[in-house]
Amino acid sequence: MAKSSKSKNIYRCTLCHYSTPKWLGQCPSCGAWNSIEEERVEEPTVKHSFYTLSSSSKSKLIPIQEIATTAEERIVTPDKEWNRVLDGGLVRGSFILLAGEPGIGKSTLLLQLALQLNPLKIIYVSGEESERQIKLRAERIPFHNSQLYVLAGCSLEDVLYHGYNLLPDIIVIDSIQTIYSEKVEALSGSTTQIRECTHFLMQFAKENNCIVILIGHITKEGTIAGPKLLEHMVDVVLEFEGDPKLDYRLLRAVKNRFGSTAEMGIYQMHNKGLVEIPNPGELFLSNHKDSFSGVATGALLIGQRTFLIENQALVASTVFNFPQRSTTGYDAKRLNMLLAVLEKRIGITFINKDVFVNVVGGLKLEDPAADLPVLVAIISSYYDIPIPREYCFAGEISLTGEIRTVSKLEARMKEAAKIGFRYFITAEVQSEELKQNLKQKVIPIELVPITGIQALLGYLNRFITS
Ligand code: TYD
Ligand code: MG
Repeated sequence: MAKSSKSKNIYRCTLCHYSTPKWLGQCPSCGAWNSIEEERVEEPTVKHSFYTLSSSSKSKLIPIQEIATTAEERIVTPDKEWNRVLDGGLVRGSFILLAGEPGIGKSTLLLQLALQLNPLKIIYVSGEESERQIKLRAERIPFHNSQLYVLAGCSLEDVLYHGYNLLPDIIVIDSIQTIYSEKVEALSGSTTQIRECTHFLMQFAKENNCIVILIGHITKEGTIAGPKLLEHMVDVVLEFEGDPKLDYRLLRAVKNRFGSTAEMGIYQMHNKGLVEIPNPGELFLSNHKDSFSGVATGALLIGQRTFLIENQALVASTVFNFPQRSTTGYDAKRLNMLLAVLEKRIGITFINKDVFVNVVGGLKLEDPAADLPVLVAIISSYYDIPIPREYCFAGEISLTGEIRTVSKLEARMKEAAKIGFRYFITAEVQSEELKQNLKQKVIPIELVPITGIQALLGYLNRFITS
């Protein structure tokens, strides 16, 4: 059957893919504003029926037990943070998106990784910088890879041509917003170009067992659609973030088809590229000397590692008709739960109070042990009692107001002691071995076991006069 096609324009939401024949200011499906973009689609003029298509199909059904499996082959990189975040290294043939705000260090991170992976064959495609700029950047980084090839400002067709000729281990595309296909009539960075280029690059990765890493920009408002649209097409989504004014950067997996997403990599932006941070445990403590009310430090886990993380709360009289609850880095539902528990169990009411919670360093806490330091920060702000800086906390709060034990208590205590905390407030300790270690000062920190929030309030009272 002869197949001809014509094209037509449709409008598609770049966030949720909802399509509509007319442009709309707000997407009726996901509610986002200004997310709908025009897109040209090829429409077959000869309509196939379902049965004609399936009768001529070359695809075949395979019983699941007959599908051969081999363990995925991983490239363990010399960069420990990469291995940690990817749960064991780069998987061959994987399709990865590294997203982050402009200027955060994505190009530096990937160029550095490419230079470290000597002697793997790598093509670094840059639509943003010239060969000379890339070379200048590479000269600041103290690694060398003689098999790293640079391709500046080019089309998808050029990338695939060189890809098929060289058959590299890795292709880095910097960035997916700047690459374009000569066959697509749309500007680079448009949804149509991004979708087309991603599709062919994904095919290349899978057919040639080549790792393809795409760099994608996201703005502070998350308005550029590219990375959002790509998220479901790639195997791994990595986010590179941090405050551009501070020099540390966080690398996190938000999706990983080959492993866990629990771990976080931490780097420092140096004049010689990104370097590992020697004592990451104390990174999320602010360095002011005085104690303020509304601040409490938690010994908390991110993945397998313990960090001492400062939690801040501000309880203030409300000026509006209804009180505000605002949280950054701590779960909003858990904040409401903590406020309800405080009200029910010890009678502190927040009916005419605004409550703000903030986790230092832009972290998102998932560890249930964060309940206790957040609760203490709230109580501290409510009564305006500063908590001395040598105290740290870890514990889950139950609906009954009990403080519950947390996992990896010994590791948390060791890290807190190493950083110089003197008192560790948590639930009753069960482990005899840990009790012995604390008694014999093997772990030089004083344990303060507290069972519930009533007892906690009694304990915190001692800070009023001091
Ligand atoms: P860049 O990797 O270009 O960010 P992105 O690709 O995410 O837009 O790097 C951003 C900043 O990093 C830039 O302002 C310069 C700085 N930088 C260093 O501080 N040290 C270095 O060794 C390099 C290569 C860059
Ligand atoms: Mg860049």
